[in-house]
Amino acid sequence: MDAERGTQTVLITGATDGLGKAAALLLAENGFRVFAAGRSAEKRAQLDTLANEKKLSLETLGMDVCDDGSVQRAVNLVYQKAGTIDVLINNAGLAYVATVEDMTMEDWRRQFETNFFGVVRVTQAVLPKMRERRSGRIIMISSVSGLVTPPTQGAYSASKHAMEGLSNALRHELYPFEVKTILIEPGYIVTNIQQTAVQVAQPYQEKIKSGPYAKVYAGSWSGAKSSRRKSKTTPEDCARVILKAIRAPVPQARYGVTPLAATLKWAKRLLPDSAIDAMIRRRYGIMRQG
Ligand SMILES: NC(=O)c1ccc[n+]([C@@H]2O[C@H](COP(=O)([O-])OP(=O)(O)OC[C@H]3O[C@@H](n4cnc5c(N)ncnc54)[C@H](OP(=O)(O)O)[C@@H]3O)[C@@H](O)[C@H]2O)c1
Repeated sequence: MDAERGTQTVLITGATDGLGKAAALLLAENGFRVFAAGRSAEKRAQLDTLANEKKLSLETLGMDVCDDGSVQRAVNLVYQKAGTIDVLINNAGLAYVATVEDMTMEDWRRQFETNFFGVVRVTQAVLPKMRERRSGRIIMISSVSGLVTPPTQGAYSASKHAMEGLSNALRHELYPFEVKTILIEPGYIVTNIQQTAVQVAQPYQEKIKSGPYAKVYAGSWSGAKSSRRKSKTTPEDCARVILKAIRAPVPQARYGVTPLAATLKWAKRLLPDSAIDAMIRRRYGIMRQG
C-alpha cells in the first residue's frame, strides 16, 4: 500500500519479545521505519543493540498498554518523530491458564486489560490521524483461541474472541476512511508466552494439583505439551504472514498462521459445534468423572 509515499512507519506493541520482536526485525529489514514498544527496559535495550548492530531503522519505546498516559505518550512520541503511523500492530498479550470457576475476578480483569482493553486503548490513540489521512492498517494479533476454546483457556480465548468482534466492527466503521483492519490468527508458536502463562498460574497450583478440576488441568497441560512438541512454526514464520498482510493490495480479513490454524478455519466452517467439541475433548483428555 502507498508504496509511492516512501518509508512506512509501523508501531508494534509488545515488540520486545516473541512474535512482536520477530515482526519488528523483519519489517525493519524490509524498509519500514519501526517503533517497537514494550514495558521491559532491559529487553528494549537488547533490541536496540541488535537493531544498531544490524543498522536497522528500528527504535524501541516504553509503553504499557494497560496505562492510558503511557499509551498516549508513546503514540505522541512516534508522531513527533515520524509524523505518521501507517501501520499499527496490536500484539502485546499474555495468557492466563485457569478454569472459569477457579480464576479470580482480578485475574479476569488483568487478562482483558492487556489483551482487549489495551488493544482498544492503543487503537483509539492512533485512529484519529489514520482516519483523517484516509490511510492505514491495523493488524490484530489474535489467535486460533479466537476461533475455538481449549479447556482452562476460557479467559485468554474470551479476550481473543473479543478482539475478533472488535476487529469485525472496525472493518465496517473504517471502511469509509480506507483504514483496513486485519486479523492474524496463529496456533501454537514457542515464545515466552508459555513461560509467562506458567508464572501467572502460580496462585492456582493447589487447585491445579488437587482441586475438583485437577483432571481437566492435567489434560490441558498434556495437550499443551503435545502442541509444543509438534510446533514447527517459528515467530519468523508469523512475521512473514504479517508482512504479507501489510503489503497485500487487497488484504484478507484474517490470516491463519500454523497448520492448526488452517485446519480449524475449515473445521469451523464445515463441522457442527458438537464435532469440534468432541475433537477438543479428545485432544485434552476431557471425560466424564465418577
Ligand atoms: N506464541 C503463541 O503461541 C501465540 C499464539 C497465538 C497468538 N499469540 C499472540 O501473540 C501475541 C504475542 O505473544 P508472544 O507469543 O510473542 O508472547 P511473548 O513472547 O510473551 O511476548 C509478549 C510481548 O507482550 C509484551 N507485553 C505484555 N504485557 C504488556 C503490556 N501490559 N504492555 C505492553 N506490552 C506488554 C511483552 O513485553 P514487555 O514485557 O516488555 O512489556 C512482550 O514483548 C499475543 O497477543 C498472543 O496472545 C501467541
